Amino acid sequence: MTHIPHRLEVENISVAYGDNVILRDISFQVPHGAQIAVVGPNGAGKSTLFKALVGLLPLKNGRILIHGMPLGDHKDCVAYIPQREEVDWRFPVTVTDVVTMGRFNTRGWFARPNRDDHEAVARSLDEMGIANLAKVSISDLSGGQQQRVFLARAIAQEPHILLMDEPFTGVDATTQQVTLNLLDHLRQRQVTAIISTHDLNLAATRFETVMLINKRLVAFGPAKEVLSQENLQKAFGSSLLVMENGAMLVDECCPPDEDHHHP
Ligand SMILES: Nc1ncnc2c1ncn2[C@@H]1O[C@H](COP(=O)(O)OP(=O)(O)OP(=O)(O)O)[C@@H](O)[C@H]1O
Ligand SMILES: [Mg+2]
Repeated sequence: MTHIPHRLEVENISVAYGDNVILRDISFQVPHGAQIAVVGPNGAGKSTLFKALVGLLPLKNGRILIHGMPLGDHKDCVAYIPQREEVDWRFPVTVTDVVTMGRFNTRGWFARPNRDDHEAVARSLDEMGIANLAKVSISDLSGGQQQRVFLARAIAQEPHILLMDEPFTGVDATTQQVTLNLLDHLRQRQVTAIISTHDLNLAATRFETVMLINKRLVAFGPAKEVLSQENLQKAFGSSLLVMENGAMLVDECCPPDEDHHHP
């Protein structure tokens, strides 16, 4: 066969917390080295999708293939940067500890770091400009520094696919730029990157491919087509004010998928 496997194929997946089905029947394919922005309202299931993609949540239906093979065999090549609020930053470990964890998916948590590991960790800290924080406890970091520690851990893992959940939320312009620069480097290394964001402008201007979700896949494809007024209204409903040069969120109280009836 001459078929070249996509890096990531998601086929009809549904994901639930208990009986509460959040994602329904999501399918998409991400080719080698693509960079994709995932957008959708609060509660749309962006974080849920990422957790499913990295094997942290079971699938109710469907399957996920990486390099043409089921996820279970390939978790190591997927790095995941969670939304910062989801992490307990009081955990008593240093920056180096956290970044070193990026190296241990393959060998288990109790392996001893070898010279390659130490070098990869040092390189990643350098690349993120946080070598000076190596021995600092993660509880003492600012939001932007936390973000860089996550990025360093993901680089140290040397993934084929990188999932970043809202890396641009609550960081200053410098950290945002560090993150965007990293995306450029990853593109050169042919690393596939999937990034969730609430910044529709950034999604439209910086990413060629956009995924718009609200529990279901509303649209997936070239940014200009996906972020049409019609699609945005489908995903955000009345909570979105669409303006001539883009879109602006005005009110996130009533996601269109929930059954809100106004008198
Ligand atoms: N651990 C959990 N147990 C039960 N329900 C959950 C859990 N995590 C998330 N949910 C629910 O799943 C839905 C989707 O949540 P998710 O965090 O994936 O949305 P999101 O698109 O990432 O939102 P945000 O933009 O606010 O980060 C929400 O209704 C949420 O309440
Ligand atoms: Mg989220």
